[in-house]
Amino acid sequence: MHQIFNMSVKIKALLETAPEGQKVTVQGWVRTFRANRFIALNDGSTLGNLQCVVDFEDFDEALLKEVSTGAALKVTGRYIESQGKGQTAEIQVEDLLIYGTADPESYPIQPKKHSFEFLREKAHLRVRTATFSAVMRVRAALSFGVHKFFREEGFHYVNTPIITGSDAEGAGEMFRVSALDAKNPPLDENGNVDVTQDFFGKETHLTVSGQLEAETYAMGLGEVYTFGPTFRAENSNTTRHLAEFWMIEPEMAFFDLNDNMDLAEKFIKSVLTYALENCQEDLTFLDERYTQEENSKPKLERSEMGLLEKIQFIVDNDFKRVSYTEAIDILRNSKPNKKKKFKYIIEEWGADLQSEHERYLVEKHFKTPVILFDYPAKIKAFYMRMNEDGKTVRAMDILFPGIGEMVGGSQREERLDVLKERIKAMGIEEEELWWYLDLRRFGSAPHSGFGLGFERLVLFATGMGNIRDVIPFPRTPQNASF
Ligand code: 4AD
Ligand code: MG
Repeated sequence: MHQIFNMSVKIKALLETAPEGQKVTVQGWVRTFRANRFIALNDGSTLGNLQCVVDFEDFDEALLKEVSTGAALKVTGRYIESQGKGQTAEIQVEDLLIYGTADPESYPIQPKKHSFEFLREKAHLRVRTATFSAVMRVRAALSFGVHKFFREEGFHYVNTPIITGSDAEGAGEMFRVSALDAKNPPLDENGNVDVTQDFFGKETHLTVSGQLEAETYAMGLGEVYTFGPTFRAENSNTTRHLAEFWMIEPEMAFFDLNDNMDLAEKFIKSVLTYALENCQEDLTFLDERYTQEENSKPKLERSEMGLLEKIQFIVDNDFKRVSYTEAIDILRNSKPNKKKKFKYIIEEWGADLQSEHERYLVEKHFKTPVILFDYPAKIKAFYMRMNEDGKTVRAMDILFPGIGEMVGGSQREERLDVLKERIKAMGIEEEELWWYLDLRRFGSAPHSGFGLGFERLVLFATGMGNIRDVIPFPRTPQNASF
């Protein structure tokens, strides 16, 4: 067993060890203290609590009074087979040290069911609950699974800038970055803010995507990926949007759109498999939570599968690949479209798909993840490769049941003349993209990539209902506490 600071052992390791009366020390936080005798201790290493039994005759009454939910303890005693039901082993406490008490009058995380809304306001303490500790352990495992997958596939991890000087992506509203005095900024002769006097001598923003910079690295390292924070100032107050979220963006030289789709599917399956294999206990717990929540919904809205089943289903089945044009036909002829149940009725080819349409396709029509490809150029970014038809581009989105868009990607336009035309058509300043265009001037090559919103993957894998509950400190409109 791995012994740490002052000879203590992690509860996870201890629970995997046979209780033979050995003397051990554990450290953690009290989840509950029952009958002045049974402490359920948790140290975050695992979902399970360790039962620590105190004989109150052996301890000072004043000391035991300070043992309450939330208190931080060091406990030493004999690790023995449990005398009671509900656990196989326990510690017979011989020594008890209280590092920090938690006054029950004011400590908000009490052993009862708290709503997620309440816990969001206590985001600095919510990881001390079973649900949030499970979610955050799964999140950490998924994150490792991401790096593991790409490392094993021969990709290089690159760190693209967070502060950017170009808004080339056009993926959404950006947050401005400035060191100027907001109350009294320097003005130019026209009375506008003089950005040349700002820190970078120009307007800068927080990045919405690392893609364009990742492309430059793919054109030298071959296969690369980014995994970093991205920022969007869109005012989308939904259960699927954050203003600050983590995105995984692989970019591959010599990949066409089909290779790109193959990689994305393999990637998602691999990371979910990693979680299934390494987070059994937490996922089983979250599966039960998910089922309880589903059962509280009206029958028609309930998920047909449990959480573990849903994940296994993704791993075991091919994603359905459907062109945008086919999807429009399906949607146009669908019941909710004909009965005008959609908020946005699909009239003709070229319409942008709203999340109600995406969810109809995956949840009602195909009942499986769907990769939609070859979208109209008009509704997609300038860098996507133009098809022979002159009106669609080699884009692909992966849509997930219960989530909607999980991945957005494309084959990139590698032809300088075509790219320049698209930039012009979209009203973007060509000079801003001089370095991006250089990639098409010097050794241009076909290449592709995609972006996966990490929190949407965590949302799917944990069965949580709101994206605010799968990131430690969510940033959303009107909310940047902590
Ligand atoms: O589809 P998006 O905007 O694509 C890009 O940014 C490309 N540059 C990616 C690339 O090709 N390298 O965003 C990619 C994914 C979406 O599919 C979604 O999963 C997630 O990022 N996403 C968000 N997640 C949480 N909150 C938001 N506000 C999000 N916006 C996008
Ligand atoms: Mg997208």
